Amino acid sequence: MKLTDLKKFKEKGEKITCLTAYDASFAKLFDTCEVDMILVGDSLGNVIKGDENTLNVTMEDMLYHTRAVAKSVQKSLLIADMPYQSYTNAAQTLENAKRLMDAGAQMVKFEGGAEHEASFKILQANQIPVCGHLGLQPQSVIEMGGYKVQGKDELGAKRILEDAKLLESWGVEAIVLECVPAELARRVSQSIAIPTIGIGAGIDCDGQVLVSYDMLGINTGYLPKFVKNFLSGHDSIESGVKNYIDSVKNQTFPDNTHSY
Ligand code: KIV
Repeated sequence: MKLTDLKKFKEKGEKITCLTAYDASFAKLFDTCEVDMILVGDSLGNVIKGDENTLNVTMEDMLYHTRAVAKSVQKSLLIADMPYQSYTNAAQTLENAKRLMDAGAQMVKFEGGAEHEASFKILQANQIPVCGHLGLQPQSVIEMGGYKVQGKDELGAKRILEDAKLLESWGVEAIVLECVPAELARRVSQSIAIPTIGIGAGIDCDGQVLVSYDMLGINTGYLPKFVKNFLSGHDSIESGVKNYIDSVKNQTFPDNTHSY
């Protein structure tokens, strides 16, 4: 997938598939299976470093894993997360985003909305493609009081909707919506022309993303309701990945049991 395909997929109603990858081997497999987008997620704090949250992930971690993944990716669109405290002002955001692009990312992602106006605008002015991340923001897990569904009340829902429209107006290319009610995700997706990529956000998002380890049934503890093991009943990782892609493309995943 190319950057310019993002809106085309939304316009033609083809669901976008995305998986996280942190190393060259998994990235090569996902790329060969034709996952549309590969995200070097700061979820590496949990699944690679063994931390309880993503707050200890550094720019050096992200650069190391982005470089490794980039060596294998040929067809998928490669996104890299900006870690905690790496986009606190415009100048710092631009510097760190450039480092991730130099490491091989084709787009950077960071969490938050209107409060990061200067960061969104400086990346737009410097032609660095950005993916937003609204709803549950794991880097704000302490402020949010835990990993909770966001936008359940009128005020919270209005804020997410308004942030999505602002991000679109600031040139953001796609928005991850994490852990929001399916009905709100549907409203957001219908209100903007750029694609929404859901995780725990229901079937009406324009695409879906999962942490690859969760999707393969490898986990160290608590599993959120939106996770499904796609390897179960399949005899190879490749077949499990294709099962995930097919399920997103033919819209059998997520169903109500994975949504809020
Ligand atoms: O870091 C990550 O893996 C993410 C996805 C869960 C969207 O941001």
